[in-house]
Amino acid sequence: MPDDKAHLDLAARLALRAAGDAEPNPLVGCVLVAPDGRVIGLGHHRRFGGLHAEREAILSCRRQGRDPRGSTAFVTLEPCNGHGKQPPCAEALIEARVARVVFAAPDPSPSKGGGEGRLRAAGVEVARSDASPLASGLAEPWIHRMRTGRPWVIAKWAQTLDGRVATRMGESKWISGEASRRRVHRLRARVDAIVTGLGTVVADDPMLTPRGVRRVRRRPLRVVVDPDLEIPETCALVSTAGQAPTIVACAAELLGAEIARLKRERLEAAGVTLLGTPASARGWLDLRELLTGLHRERGVATVLLECGPGLMGALFEQDLIDEAVVYVAPLVLGDELARGVAEGRVARSLTAGRALRLWRVKAVGGDVELTYRRRSPRGA
Ligand SMILES: NC(=O)c1ccc[n+]([C@@H]2O[C@H](COP(=O)([O-])OP(=O)(O)OC[C@H]3O[C@@H](n4cnc5c(N)ncnc54)[C@H](OP(=O)(O)O)[C@@H]3O)[C@@H](O)[C@H]2O)c1
Repeated sequence: MPDDKAHLDLAARLALRAAGDAEPNPLVGCVLVAPDGRVIGLGHHRRFGGLHAEREAILSCRRQGRDPRGSTAFVTLEPCNGHGKQPPCAEALIEARVARVVFAAPDPSPSKGGGEGRLRAAGVEVARSDASPLASGLAEPWIHRMRTGRPWVIAKWAQTLDGRVATRMGESKWISGEASRRRVHRLRARVDAIVTGLGTVVADDPMLTPRGVRRVRRRPLRVVVDPDLEIPETCALVSTAGQAPTIVACAAELLGAEIARLKRERLEAAGVTLLGTPASARGWLDLRELLTGLHRERGVATVLLECGPGLMGALFEQDLIDEAVVYVAPLVLGDELARGVAEGRVARSLTAGRALRLWRVKAVGGDVELTYRRRSPRGA
């Protein structure tokens, strides 16, 4: 129904306002619509531990002197049915005498799911709608974490129109325009960790901190994948490790090796945390284990990946990338030695390639920001 799409899109846009504040909870939005079609309540889950979207929407409705009785609630996620930091939302909707609930994604959590059944048992009409792809995809990061025990990984890169992320000499500052770079800083301020590779540290000497942002919602952990502990001690990440938490993930055996003792001591004295990571079956660092450990031991819910083609290719190859935010700049290099987005052996045929689906498109200055997500979301 066209109304389902408009109302669920609105609920999703409301929910997105809390990106970086609500996690590790899911982003959820709710819109209450009166029988005559007027929107009478708006709500979203603003912060972890705070009121859920449905209760916010009911409150906003009453604050305007309106009665939610008989209305339809459009919610991006199936209303919860369990007690967490807040009482169940299904209960709030039943008490408010809402007549109908339309939700975009089912809640698979064992402790909180089952809201649909509870609402039906109380005589509320319930429907699931996939009219709004934005609303249906909103809870994917949360569902992914629950199912895999790994953070949601957002790969971000800036590329030329012909798909290059650096010149043959390794120059990449700046492919994208200023407006795109401002959006990257906003993104940095909403994630728990930013992961890069040694190649990028050596080529670009990045700081990987959110700067020029109105409100820094999270202070991300900076993580460098550096299997052989080769990171220059003079680089910006090491020299600012006292001010912004910094982890260097290296081969686990280097943590006890005498040959690396001096380097370890100097990095640790600068404030860097060394994280020994086991090797994969193919002898490289086990990137899956690294991500799982960041989630399990450091509560990392969302990772922003800002690396070059070497690490990007390895992560695509192991299917560890859940979302891609791509800035396409109006520039063509036309040089076969300029570097592509992902190197290695991701796929040799079109059918074996990593398939993504387009999620959002936005013009940003002279660039285009494209957001892609996995083709088959776990949970849809
Ligand atoms: N346009 C953009 O958005 C953008 C963003 C970032 C960087 N860049 C450009 O990208 C270039 C750097 O790219 P890069 O490929 O050299 O560096 P990188 O991808 O940033 O880092 C490579 C590092 O990752 C490690 N690595 C690769 N595969 C691995 C695996 N399976 N397990 C564990 N570790 C693994 C490599 O280990 P080994 O040392 O063992 O090989 C190496 O230390 C620079 O020119 C930079 O300017 C562009």
